[in-house]
Amino acid sequence: MLIAPLVAAILAVPALASRSPFGRVHPLRAYEPEGIARREAFERAALQARAPTNDTNTNTTVSYRYKTPKTEPYLVTALPDVTFNFGELYSGSVAVDANNQTEGSLFFFFAPKAGDPVNEVTIWLNGGPGCSSLEGFIQENGPIIWEPGTIAPVANPYSWNNLTNMLWVDQPIGTGFSAGTPYATSQEEIAAAFAKFFKNWQDIFGIQNYKIYVTGESYAGRYVPYISAEFINQNNTANFDLAGALVYDPVIGDMSQVQTQFPTLGHVEANLNIWGFNDTFMNQLAAIHKECGYQDYLNKYLVFPASGVQPPPGNVTDRCDINDLVFEEEFSINTCFNPYFISQACPVPYDILGMPGTFQYSPPGNPPYFTRPDVVAAIHAPTSFQWKECAAGNVFVKGVDKSALSIEKVLPQVIEKTNRVLISNGDFDFVVMTNGTLLEIQNMTWNGHLGFQSPPYEPWILDTVDVRYDDVFLASGLDGIKGPRGQQGYYHEERGLMWVQTFQAGHMQPEYQPRAAYRHLEWVLGRVQSISDASAPASSSTNSSSGTPSSAPSSQRDSGSAEREPAVVAALLVCLVVSFHSMLA
Ligand SMILES: *[C@@H]1O[C@H](CO)[C@@H](O)[C@H](O)[C@H]1NC(C)=O
Ligand SMILES: *[C@@H]1O[C@H](CO)[C@@H](O)[C@H](O)[C@H]1NC(C)=O
Ligand SMILES: *[C@@H]1O[C@H](CO)[C@@H](O)[C@H](O)[C@H]1NC(C)=O
Ligand SMILES: *[C@@H]1O[C@H](CO)[C@@H](O)[C@H](O)[C@H]1NC(C)=O
Ligand SMILES: *[C@@H]1O[C@H](CO)[C@@H](O)[C@H](O)[C@H]1NC(C)=O
Ligand SMILES: *[C@@H]1O[C@H](CO)[C@@H](O)[C@H](O)[C@H]1NC(C)=O
Ligand SMILES: *[C@@H]1O[C@H](CO)[C@@H](O)[C@H](O)[C@H]1NC(C)=O
Ligand SMILES: *[C@@H]1O[C@H](CO)[C@@H](O)[C@H](O)[C@H]1NC(C)=O
Ligand SMILES: *[C@@H]1O[C@H](CO)[C@@H](O)[C@H](O)[C@H]1NC(C)=O
Ligand SMILES: *[C@@H]1O[C@H](CO)[C@@H](O)[C@H](O)[C@H]1NC(C)=O
Repeated sequence: MLIAPLVAAILAVPALASRSPFGRVHPLRAYEPEGIARREAFERAALQARAPTNDTNTNTTVSYRYKTPKTEPYLVTALPDVTFNFGELYSGSVAVDANNQTEGSLFFFFAPKAGDPVNEVTIWLNGGPGCSSLEGFIQENGPIIWEPGTIAPVANPYSWNNLTNMLWVDQPIGTGFSAGTPYATSQEEIAAAFAKFFKNWQDIFGIQNYKIYVTGESYAGRYVPYISAEFINQNNTANFDLAGALVYDPVIGDMSQVQTQFPTLGHVEANLNIWGFNDTFMNQLAAIHKECGYQDYLNKYLVFPASGVQPPPGNVTDRCDINDLVFEEEFSINTCFNPYFISQACPVPYDILGMPGTFQYSPPGNPPYFTRPDVVAAIHAPTSFQWKECAAGNVFVKGVDKSALSIEKVLPQVIEKTNRVLISNGDFDFVVMTNGTLLEIQNMTWNGHLGFQSPPYEPWILDTVDVRYDDVFLASGLDGIKGPRGQQGYYHEERGLMWVQTFQAGHMQPEYQPRAAYRHLEWVLGRVQSISDASAPASSSTNSSSGTPSSAPSSQRDSGSAEREPAVVAALLVCLVVSFHSMLA
């Protein structure tokens, strides 16, 4: 019943080719007399390129760079439902310590760089804690992507293995396909275990003297700097030559208040027509924001240069829990609200990983991809337990990660060592918000100063054309419309730290703004000198888009109201809906 109209709509497209979706002759057609012929040629080529061939990766004449008797058991030659050749790919488990089973094993995907080789490994880690990096692999920056709401996996033109050798790892123990009983109580322990795994993994793949980059998102705002710092502390450039790091929408500071409560009102105000709240509710929020000292804190500390070290964070009281109030209220307006990407509305998209935002949801008869026996077999995954996108249990003993905030020590150490660290936040993320991340950067001392010295609002221009939907635009009669995109956000670099604010990106930036993320990685790898393509466009109205200012407010400078709490980041699951409550409780 549902399929018939869908097919009809697809078949109808060529008839509408010279028209806009609204039925009018497309105005740009007038400027592109050769457009139709070009489109037809393109469509033929695209159809040929996309015909399912069943020629998965079984072409034995191809010589793979890392294929040896030791790595062959990890080689992935075919993946269920994937009908295109995805190149050299390995996956499987590697012990943390071959002599101590108690330490468990971590699970990896490894996609060596396509095309000319490079001697680098770029590690990607998802967050949680307890969320699988296979999400990154198959929905963010891997060679094969199958994103929520899409019907089949496709080759990813923005795969990070276009640029570098990519390694996705399920860690710590208890996450995804990593096997064993969680024993970690701190980031230091996790990082030490990761370094042991990584050395073993390199030995299997014959890798030495490579540059190492560590990247990730969300709670990996803790994993990435701690693991990077562990690499630095190893004093061993043969295996741990750390050259740069990147974190998206990262937990780098305090999640009880600074990265959650303080930026909430500003986020809602800047995106009010998405949130859809009425005046009464907005007045209620504004009152809480003021009474609980959030406005005073922002006035005092979200300034450039930084005004001083921020007080240790306190616990939020129920009355001041503006973040939870907003989160719960939004469901009365948008039943399908997704705090990782606020512009999502109903329906909840089908997600092959079973977690399309807020909900655990798989349509009947469609178990999560990585729980399918055919998939588990194809990727050499453990069969003794079932994969989950985010672990149901704790990956820290009793759920307590006792390490200090990343901004306090490890993140500065990594910046000072590499002078190639990129921190970025997406504006459509309500889980980790842009201004909360900036606030924490203003509380970090690196390379001799506290925070950024000047406002981080240079317009970020990205002049590359989006390659992903080329054929879709052409087939829809919209060629000529989608050119270079101009401003994608703001950026700012000081003393080895690059900050990028990305417009309209949700929490998973490589998923929501893959072209933007691709450029971020190019900078981290040193492939481009500047992250921005050009100077600001002549039109200066761009600064006010996305509700972001060209400079920080300078009124009222009263002191904040936050109080001390122990540096316990317990129950900091930024991953599940239940976590919103435990996180803020
Ligand atoms: C691909 O393989 C499947 C299963 O063996 C088969 O049904 C299908 O016809 C094949 N497709 C092509 C294009 O060869
Ligand atoms: C196998 O790969 C080689 C090298 O890329 C290519 O020339 C050849 O056409 C491929 N064979 C098949 C059957 O795809
Ligand atoms: C094995 O690893 C566990 C967890 O790190 C540790 O507690 C134990 O002491 C180790 N055993 C040996 C023999 O090293
Ligand atoms: C990645 O590589 C493929 C194959 O060379 C190419 O078609 C694609 O445009 C590249 N992507 C980017 C963003 O450059
Ligand atoms: C690495 O070098 C530093 C400084 O030279 C030293 O303090 C540290 O103990 C060394 N670490 C290891 C693991 O050898
Ligand atoms: C972020 O903070 C700036 C002050 O630096 C403020 O002007 C802006 O409105 C805030 N944006 C959001 C989305 O909260
Ligand atoms: C305004 O929104 C609040 C919270 O959703 C709701 O309780 C209230 O009824 C609304 N008021 C009006 C006048 O719509
Ligand atoms: C700010 O940094 C100081 C010193 O590193 C730390 O003690 C404090 O907890 C931090 N406060 C916040 C809100 O991050
Ligand atoms: C936009 O930002 C740039 C860089 O901060 C600044 O030079 C320019 O004056 C701003 N334009 C407007 C209209 O605010
Ligand atoms: C904050 O909450 C935690 C957990 O409930 C509690 O252990 C701690 O004592 C509280 N801190 C303060 C300063 O009230």
